[in-house]
Amino acid sequence: MALPVRSLTPAAPDPILGLSESFKADTRTDKVNLSVGVYVDETGVTPVIPSVLEAERRLLEKAGSKGYLPIDGRPGFKAAVRDLIFGADSEIVSSGRSATAQTPGGTGGLRVAADFLIQAGSARTVWLSEPTWPNHPQLFSMAGFAVKSYPYLDESGRGLNVEGMLGALRSAAPGDVVVLHGSCHNPSGVDPDPKTWAAVGEAIVERELVPVVDFAYQGFGFGLREDADWLAGLARPGLEFLVCTSYSKNFALYNERVGAVTIVAADANRAASALSHLKIAIRSNYSNPPAHGGDIVETILNDAALRAQWEDDLAVMRNRILGNRAALVDALVAAGVPGQWEPLRRQRGMFALLGLSAAQVARLRDEFGVYVVGRGRINVAGLTAANLPHVVAAVKAVVGS
Ligand code: LMR
Repeated sequence: MALPVRSLTPAAPDPILGLSESFKADTRTDKVNLSVGVYVDETGVTPVIPSVLEAERRLLEKAGSKGYLPIDGRPGFKAAVRDLIFGADSEIVSSGRSATAQTPGGTGGLRVAADFLIQAGSARTVWLSEPTWPNHPQLFSMAGFAVKSYPYLDESGRGLNVEGMLGALRSAAPGDVVVLHGSCHNPSGVDPDPKTWAAVGEAIVERELVPVVDFAYQGFGFGLREDADWLAGLARPGLEFLVCTSYSKNFALYNERVGAVTIVAADANRAASALSHLKIAIRSNYSNPPAHGGDIVETILNDAALRAQWEDDLAVMRNRILGNRAALVDALVAAGVPGQWEPLRRQRGMFALLGLSAAQVARLRDEFGVYVVGRGRINVAGLTAANLPHVVAAVKAVVGS
């Protein structure tokens, strides 16, 4: 008896979470972690936001129960997040043609979606944006998909390659799955405008593709409803799609692992049937979701005062990130760092892509203790007045050479 041979050769560390492990082990005092997408405040702390603190206090008072949740999660949570995604007055909600399952984080939702599509469907190819979140290719290929990519950024790396993206989608085969970032594209912060979303919707209908919208940053871009612009481009009678949402970021509930997957079908019967298959994907994996994070989200969304507090908490996070973007661009320009930095100011969400080579990223880490992902994706929230000068000096040193 022995472990599988392949398991005896150490695997590469995770391209994002592995960096956090290296960062922790780094003994330099001026090190800066701009890798994993976790909000921190000006003191470098990931706070429990006030609305969550209050919801937890109320939940503790209620005592509740630690019994299992249903396979697809708490009904109150599912209804609340559906309203949040689509808007409470949306036809998608009122018609009953959407079905939601509560999942362990947005990643759990994506994996359930991928398993569901493989197990209940015939699709075997998924199209991902290039670049994309580094976990997307691994997650979909582990579920059994062949991974293809559609171009996303233009030559400058600062804007969208609309023609390239649409051209690739038009070359996809009917039934192929296409993953779209709903807002705050990870890693670039570059999002389609409404006209482009409509053209993406057209290409999807024309090619009969199956969209999976990764919507992990609702409220981090322009606002809760504004960030759902993609909906108008995609949602149309007959077009069926999946939406994976995360509450790690907008509720700062990272370690509670709370998210959801929602199926939008042509009618209520089709949605109910699809949900029954989704439940098999869940039951055969982790059985049913953890409760606490979902209970917090449900408590906040279903109480008017708490919800108002949460929207304020979310605005604080969004505005701090926007302020950091401006401070970063100003500092890069003032320091005379060669490059096109101004567009970063207008991009949205947690990340900015500096567009660095692997060697430059390694130098940032090894020589300056500045940890960034891939081609120079930085967590903009991780910048503070205290670390910005060091970060800019480090970028100048590696870019200038
Ligand atoms: C990120 O992209 O850094 C976040 O989504 C966290 C993660 O799980 O990778």
